Amino acid sequence: MKVSTQNVPGEIADFCRRCGEELGKMDNDEACIRYTREMLPRLLLNKSLFTHLLEDALGGGGYPDMRRPTMFDNEVVLHVDSQGVFSLRMYLWGPGEFTAPHDHSSWGVIGSPSDGYEVINYRREDDGTREGHARIVPAERFLLKAGETAHTHAFDAGIHKTGNPTEGTILSLNMYGRPAPRGFVQGFDEKNQRVYKILPPKRKKEQLMKDALRLLKS
Ligand SMILES: [Fe+2]
Repeated sequence: MKVSTQNVPGEIADFCRRCGEELGKMDNDEACIRYTREMLPRLLLNKSLFTHLLEDALGGGGYPDMRRPTMFDNEVVLHVDSQGVFSLRMYLWGPGEFTAPHDHSSWGVIGSPSDGYEVINYRREDDGTREGHARIVPAERFLLKAGETAHTHAFDAGIHKTGNPTEGTILSLNMYGRPAPRGFVQGFDEKNQRVYKILPPKRKKEQLMKDALRLLKS
């Protein structure tokens, strides 16, 4: 599905075109992360860009497309590269809102135009052989200032939790590489040492329909 190019701010269109060209030539995640960490602050430090973006979204300007389905309810898709090399997403965080610890199926670089976006990276200590079981411990914590970035790796090497410990509502800008074909995110319950699948809303409904259908037919 393509994001409408109507009303895309020039800074975002230029940024995404350049990232698509450069990241498309790179053959390893480390190079992609390095390049994106150099580039993303250019958008993050442009506060008026985000002011306009939010005003346009609230004014029904068509971009970003608020109706586009997303994995999470605080997520807005800003761009998906036509070759699938990367995607750029905005997340909105109310005071005290955090994700559960989770992984990703690609590398990622994340930051905010405001102070206070928090990132906690975890280390997985079990060997992943017991279905549904995972033991994770916090390993690093970053409280990012406006324009600073953190990065993540795919799967167990990138388990993290992010959010907003401040008293205001902030947004983050998250760029992810080409996703591995897994189709879900893994969520982690640190206290109960559990790992579980987080499916996109459409897939979750389909899965539940299949399960309900099986029961109806039995
Ligand atoms: Fe994440």
